[in-house]
Amino acid sequence: MNTVVIGASSGLGRSIAIGLGQRGARVALLARRLDRLTDAAKEAGPESLAIACDVKDAASCHAAIDEAAAGLGGMDALIYTPGVGTLGRLVDLTAEDWRHTFDTNVIGAALVTNAAIPHLAPSAGVAVYLSSVAGSLTAPWPGLGAYAASKAALGTLVEAYRVEHPTIGFTRVIVGDCAGGEGASGTEFASGWDMEVFMDLHPLWESGNLLSGALMDVEELVRIVDAVVQCGGTATIPTVAVIPRRPG
Ligand SMILES: NC(=O)c1ccc[n+]([C@@H]2O[C@H](COP(=O)([O-])OP(=O)(O)OC[C@H]3O[C@@H](n4cnc5c(N)ncnc54)[C@H](OP(=O)(O)O)[C@@H]3O)[C@@H](O)[C@H]2O)c1
Repeated sequence: MNTVVIGASSGLGRSIAIGLGQRGARVALLARRLDRLTDAAKEAGPESLAIACDVKDAASCHAAIDEAAAGLGGMDALIYTPGVGTLGRLVDLTAEDWRHTFDTNVIGAALVTNAAIPHLAPSAGVAVYLSSVAGSLTAPWPGLGAYAASKAALGTLVEAYRVEHPTIGFTRVIVGDCAGGEGASGTEFASGWDMEVFMDLHPLWESGNLLSGALMDVEELVRIVDAVVQCGGTATIPTVAVIPRRPG
């Protein structure tokens, strides 16, 4: 399986890229931080590629996807993981906050997908997008409204692509709380958060029963994504949800 993973420099994307590579996939790892991708590619296997890509830049998306497809010798699967969790109450968000959130979480997914379709169509390939419980299964979390709105938009985008390109398998993977893997594979999702704002919001997440109270092993997510990628051309998996289960 020739597989392109966007957002492979940290967290869940890095874990997925390495996990699929170790299961035998030929993987191209894309994100902005090339040094981190180069390290991850070594773990993913000898045929892995590290390619710089900024999903907020259409030219970068096209160049990186074309380079990945050429280097891999075709593309069977695209996995889109970039997501920013802009933290702040809606009344405090700026236009730039909204643009950054939608540029990364939604428009970037469209730019990358458009670049990938000419490669995925001949292989009847699969395109997978990481979403969040906060954008679908739970009420929007206070202070993560822009994030929830962007993930809801991503879900509709995935459905719209499936209608326009029915020979490609488009899948939304809804993910619950997960710390990622060891070291550089740990999640950086909350690394830019203002701790004062976070401390203000956290009690609301607790009282609203939004926190699952457990973290999922990232290997469970890798297994699910691997299963989706392995889905043959006669079936489509529209949505999968994988969320933590509390220990007994
Ligand atoms: N962790 C969780 O508990 C959790 C729960 C539910 C859903 N999710 C979803 O899972 C996905 C991954 O989350 P994570 O926890 O792994 O976050 P993370 O550690 O922050 O990883 C985000 C990845 O996206 C890349 N990225 C960000 N902006 C980019 C850009 N402009 N161009 C290219 N790549 C960009 C980052 O790489 P560079 O900075 O190197 O570009 C990084 O590799 C997100 O979509 C998130 O919404 C996570």
